[in-house]
Amino acid sequence: MKDNKLMSTEELQKKLERKEPVFILDVRPVEQRNEWRIGESTHVDAYKRLNAGDNTVLDEVDIPKDSTVVTVCAAGRTSLIASEALREKGFQAYSLEGGMKAWNYAWNTAEFNFQDGLKVIQVRRTAKGVLSYIVGSANEAIVIDACLNPEIYLKLSKENGWSIKYVLDTHIHADFVSRSRELARAGGATHLLIDKAKAEFEFNPAASGDIVRFGTASLQFIHTPGHTWESTTFKLNDLAIFTGDTLFIDGIGRPDLKADQHEAMQKAKSLYHSLKQLLSLPSSILVLPAHTAKTVLFDGRIIGEPLANVKKSVHVSELSESQFVEYASSKIPPTPPNYQLIAGLNVSGSYDGYELSDLEAGGNHCAIA
Ligand SMILES: [Fe+2]
Repeated sequence: MKDNKLMSTEELQKKLERKEPVFILDVRPVEQRNEWRIGESTHVDAYKRLNAGDNTVLDEVDIPKDSTVVTVCAAGRTSLIASEALREKGFQAYSLEGGMKAWNYAWNTAEFNFQDGLKVIQVRRTAKGVLSYIVGSANEAIVIDACLNPEIYLKLSKENGWSIKYVLDTHIHADFVSRSRELARAGGATHLLIDKAKAEFEFNPAASGDIVRFGTASLQFIHTPGHTWESTTFKLNDLAIFTGDTLFIDGIGRPDLKADQHEAMQKAKSLYHSLKQLLSLPSSILVLPAHTAKTVLFDGRIIGEPLANVKKSVHVSELSESQFVEYASSKIPPTPPNYQLIAGLNVSGSYDGYELSDLEAGGNHCAIA
């Protein structure tokens, strides 16, 4: 620990992974809490009172006496006031260094094993609910929607005895900076995107229906436009579909980003047909999306559902195209900050000169239901 009053994201991540007792106290205003949070934390809206010098607000929280306390705010300043006040009250308290802005890069994993050694590791950014995947078969792996430092994917692959053959994105993301290009370079892998992708960097294009193989597994590209025009679903054998932001386990992607009203309607129409296509796949197939609206816990449970369960919360099949377009248009949430800039960087393939933690701060807003 570099400062005995601070705890880094890495240290807190390790504590949660190891299930060490830790009481995480989020002192931000409720609106910020609603935007994104640490799943394991307790909340007290103490921001104003702490900054006004009123520490009695912390007496309202029932903190276990023997537990390590970590206080959290947006950037790590108010949480320091809170941790100092708690120390004075006799607690072993630390402030989360860099606050939620730093916690944006906390991650954990969950695994799913199919037969014949085929394994999916879901690599999750816990606060933002961004889900990426390493899929391994025999001694080869692919990575889908890399959203974290490439070193993390390389290390996890190495631990499993895999070399990364392909790196893929389901679409040009607008809510986080894709790390796929960097990962492909660092791992000597091939970066594959659907041929519809309007990326300005060099990639290996694949057509809808194309199949790539790694180990003994195969992955098929299925063009599923709507969330974005190039959105692609990847089908792993007949076992799982990586649906990106087209289909979530309890909702669907938004069709409006980067679009005017007319284009948003066209996208909604496309999304309707893409969803109908996906929902007609076998019910047992596992749906593995690129996001969850919920905070990801350190519980090791994969965020994915058999299509049969997804169908229960996604009622597209019962709607006509026009009913769906009306429904989708009425449910569109606020546009995320910086989405245009982030999407632009992902088109260009470079984020040189930008600070990722500033660009990517905040929760995700990719779903409409
Ligand atoms: Fe997206």
